Amino acid sequence: MRKFNFSMPTKIVFGQDVVKDAGESLALGKKALIVTGKTSARLSGALDDVLSVLPGEYVIFDEVENNPTGENCAQGARLAREEGCDYIIAIGGGSPLDAAKVMAVLAVNDKQPLELYGGWEHKALPIAAIPTTAGTGSEVTPYAVLTLHEEETKKGLGGPDLFPAVAYLDAKYTASLPLQTTIDTAVDALSHLVEGYLSNRATPASDWVALQGIALWGTALPALRQGELSLEAREDLLLASMLGGITIAQTGTTMVHALGYPLTYFHDYPHGRANGVLMASYLEYTRDKAPERVDMVLELLDQPSLQAFRDLMDELFADYVGKLHVPEEAIKAYAAKAAKTKNIAYTLGTPSAEELTKILKDNIL
Ligand SMILES: [Fe+2]
Repeated sequence: MRKFNFSMPTKIVFGQDVVKDAGESLALGKKALIVTGKTSARLSGALDDVLSVLPGEYVIFDEVENNPTGENCAQGARLAREEGCDYIIAIGGGSPLDAAKVMAVLAVNDKQPLELYGGWEHKALPIAAIPTTAGTGSEVTPYAVLTLHEEETKKGLGGPDLFPAVAYLDAKYTASLPLQTTIDTAVDALSHLVEGYLSNRATPASDWVALQGIALWGTALPALRQGELSLEAREDLLLASMLGGITIAQTGTTMVHALGYPLTYFHDYPHGRANGVLMASYLEYTRDKAPERVDMVLELLDQPSLQAFRDLMDELFADYVGKLHVPEEAIKAYAAKAAKTKNIAYTLGTPSAEELTKILKDNIL
């Protein structure tokens, strides 16, 4: 008997010039808090497009850090309160989009950022999300990931009101990204799709989405390998990233994200790259738990074997592979902490701390 639900309340507007075409409907209230990082919203042209059509008042918070902390989000929320903003326009990669979600909650709830992990009372401000990377999928998820110095890691929080009200996706905003960032973020998208498909929370509906996304990612792969991305290839990646977000909005992420977070927190390893160096071992670990599924992933990516997939990741991260050296004691500590997370509970086979230690050692010692 099949029993599942599928929630995707975000309105998706996809295609060339969708922000400009939105015109006045871009406004979800009277005054916007526009949330961005330092550069990408401007470089990509997304901020200019927003400002060219946005009616009404706005104030810009452009100080979102990479891998934002709760305090960074609290700054933006204070600005939203002081300025009387009643909605948010989030522009950027995962960091600005996630930070904007936390600001949307803090702006209307008298809480410290850490307290949000226990929930909140008042519904978050509505958000219009405009991704400038093809990776996070945050524009269609109910999650935000924060850096927690208190717990020395990154950790996700979620709530149904964190789904943006609208997502505007235009691949031209990803064209100004450096190639390695394009690769890092694309591999994050692949990780969402694959982890969602191999999650023990996968449903028939999330599978349809994940499989379509993996196939699209495979279509863009030759361009990614050559480092020459047409707008069409960028559209494929942006769509795959969005489908990855819709997938994990149902399933959550699994082992790869749980083990990748400490590599980002302690070693400054970009999020997608951290996932990429672990993904082949994840497929290997999962192969005897769900052989048909792992084979389907490889087939859709046109990879004849697991070794070929490992070689592919090594090729995409050629400048970085083998250069991260982490002491054995630290690896054990990362694995022990990861073993206690929800992500591991969602992983097929529920790997033990020892199994996680082995996967880390095999890839980063
Ligand atoms: Fe991710």
